[in-house]
Amino acid sequence: DAQKAQHISRIKTLLERENAVLVAHYYTDPDIQALAEETGGCVSDSLEMARFGAEHEAQTLIVAGVKFMGETAKILTPQKRVLMPTLEATCSLDLGCPADKFSEFCDAHPDHTVVVYANTSAAVKARADWVVTSSMALELVEHLDSQGKKILWGPDKHLGGYIAKQTGAEMVMWQGACVVHDEFKSQALIALKEQYPEAAVLVHPESPAAVVDLADAVGSTSQLIKASQTLPNSMFIVATDKGIFYKMQQQAPEKTFIEAPTGGNGATCRSCAHCPWMAMNGLEAIENALSTGGKVHEIHVDPELGKEAMKPLNRMLEFAR
Ligand code: 13P
Ligand code: SF4
Repeated sequence: DAQKAQHISRIKTLLERENAVLVAHYYTDPDIQALAEETGGCVSDSLEMARFGAEHEAQTLIVAGVKFMGETAKILTPQKRVLMPTLEATCSLDLGCPADKFSEFCDAHPDHTVVVYANTSAAVKARADWVVTSSMALELVEHLDSQGKKILWGPDKHLGGYIAKQTGAEMVMWQGACVVHDEFKSQALIALKEQYPEAAVLVHPESPAAVVDLADAVGSTSQLIKASQTLPNSMFIVATDKGIFYKMQQQAPEKTFIEAPTGGNGATCRSCAHCPWMAMNGLEAIENALSTGGKVHEIHVDPELGKEAMKPLNRMLEFAR
């Protein structure tokens, strides 16, 4: 509509004026993803968002996603200005893993290598030996395990459990979960598979083990998009945030994508396959961030903390190269 077109046109002008680039996650609104693509920004998973932001020459990054993604960008390039549509967009994994408690957990296991998911605060990352995202966590744990390292993992229990099962690595785990993926239900998924036997099942590893066990492909958002292109099936049942359908459909217009069931009958789920914090990102908020910047939009990370958190983040980028 007319209002949307106005926002888009003003954002384009502001991106140029502010020497800024838009870095968006696959779970954000399709309008945001399309705009990022159109303006030379990026739409990707959390690993590639981090890499793109760190390597791009723009002086200002506008990160459409959730807070840990903006913080990661700021930690990797403290000299850049990092803006977000809203600083209120957090993540249940981040919320469920306070730095002081996590630090005590680490202190209680001093002989363990600390591996934390990117979905955490700067302070939690600063306590870690490694930061990982779902696209490379399995390979890293395999690598550490082959060196005989004992692993302390946090905060996602489902991703950690999946990796422990795949690798046989010894892992002590923080018991966090994602409110979105935790809602996928295996019994209802079995029923849906029976209804559509030709469909392949794609599952993000933040989902419960019983759901992951039913998957034809398990992986990060970008790995699931890839699987939807490379698997021969014409239909897919997808257990991750529904924001991903935009890219899946764009890459394979002839294929059919349906949501994996949440909350049993669909009425009892808290987030119904859409992250409430990703949903806070909108065109108007992006325009505001770029035009006003300042307190409500700019990410700040304590420089000392940032310096510590940068080490495991750079290790992650190097390992995943
Ligand atoms: P990806 O790294 O797979 O994009 O996942 C980020 C995330 O928050 C999933 O819920
Ligand atoms: Fe966090 Fe889950 Fe939202 Fe991803 S989908 S940002 S893990 S709450």
